[in-house]
Amino acid sequence: MNRIPLVDLKAAHEEVADEVRAGFERILADTAFVGGEEVRCFEREYAQFGGVAHCVGVANGTDAVELALRASGVGVGDEVVVPANTFIATVGAVARIGARPVLADCLPDSHLLDPQAALDAVGPATRAVVPVHLYGQLADVTALTDRLPDRVRVVEDAAQCQGATRDGRTPGSGSIAATSFYPGKNLGAYGDAGAVLTDDEERAGLVRAIANHGGVAKYRHDVPGFNSRLDGLQAVVLRAKLSRLADGNAARRAAAARYDAMLADLATAGRVVLPATAPGNVHVWHLYVVQVAGADRDDIVGKLNAEGIGAGVHYPAPVHLTPAYRQLGYGRGDFPNAEKATDRILSLPLYPQITPDQQQRVVNTLADAIRG
Ligand SMILES: Cc1ncc(COP(=O)(O)O)c(C=O)c1O
Repeated sequence: MNRIPLVDLKAAHEEVADEVRAGFERILADTAFVGGEEVRCFEREYAQFGGVAHCVGVANGTDAVELALRASGVGVGDEVVVPANTFIATVGAVARIGARPVLADCLPDSHLLDPQAALDAVGPATRAVVPVHLYGQLADVTALTDRLPDRVRVVEDAAQCQGATRDGRTPGSGSIAATSFYPGKNLGAYGDAGAVLTDDEERAGLVRAIANHGGVAKYRHDVPGFNSRLDGLQAVVLRAKLSRLADGNAARRAAAARYDAMLADLATAGRVVLPATAPGNVHVWHLYVVQVAGADRDDIVGKLNAEGIGAGVHYPAPVHLTPAYRQLGYGRGDFPNAEKATDRILSLPLYPQITPDQQQRVVNTLADAIRG
C-alpha cells in the first residue's frame, strides 16, 4: 500500500542532504558541538527571517517557552493565562517554573486564543498571557497588548508558525516569542531544538544567560540558570532548511488551497468544516485541520489510517481534561469552544512535497469514511 504520511521527513531531508552532510563534516572537523559559528550564523539568519532583532537558540521549544516566561519576570506563584487547547508543552513550561496555568477558551472558528476570554482570565496575580499560534497562523496579539495592564507581559508560543505574519507583524516583535524546531515543524531540526525571538535586548540577554547556567561567560553565574543550548549539528540542519522555508511555506499554502477546493462539496453538504484563516494572517499551514460534523471522528481517523493515510488529531484532549492537569480544578463544560473542537478536529497530511494526486486520494478516502 502506498502510504501518505502526515508529515514527510524523508522528502524534506532529500532536499538538503548534501548540504547537511557537508555541514556535519565542518562540525566534526572543528569539534564545535555546542554553540559555535554555525549556531551564531543560524541565530543571525533566523532573526532576520523572523523580523526581530534577537534570536537565541535553545535546546527545544518547551525550554524556549519557559525561558521567555522567566526572562519576562514570571516566577513561583504567578499566574499565566494559556489557551485550553494547546499542545501540553505550553502548560508544562508554566508549571515547571512553579507558576499557575490559568486557562482561557479559544475562538470557535480559528481555534486561536479568544483575546476577550484571555483578558477576562487576568487577575491580580497574572504576570503573563501566552497566545499560541496554533496550526500555522497567528492569534491576535495586538488585541492583548493594547488592553493588558503593564504588569502583564505577552509571551507568544510560536512553535507552529515559522514564517507566518498577521497584519505584517511577526512573533516576538514588540514582545517575546518561543519557537520549536522539533523535526515535524515547518522548520525542523534532526533532533530537539528551539529558539526565543525578541526585539528586547535585555530579555534576549537574560534568556541567553539562564539557558547557559546563568551567565554568558564560562564559570560566571549572574542569575540562577540551567542548560538549554542549541548544538552545532542542529544549527547546520536549520540553516540548510531555513534557506528553503519560504518556498516550503508557499507550497503548503498551495496545498491547503487545493484541499479547500477538493473538499468544497463535503463542506457544502455540511459534512466537514474547512479550516478558517483569521483576519490579516499569512498562514503557513503547519497543520491542515478540518472538523467533521455528524460523524464519529475517531472512527474516521481509524479508517484513514487503515488505508495508509497518516491523519492525526491535534490534540485529543483539551488541557483541563488531561489527567496531568486535572489538579487545576476545571471540569467539562468550562471551555466549550475548546471541547467542541477537540471532539471534531482531524488533521490531514500536509507537507510541501505533497502532490495533488495524493491529496485527491486523501479526500476520496475521507469522503468514503464519512459516508460510512
Ligand atoms: C504549541 C507548541 N508549544 C510548545 C511545543 C514544544 O516544543 P518542543 O517539542 O520542541 O519542546 C510544541 C511542539 O512540540 C508546540 O506545538
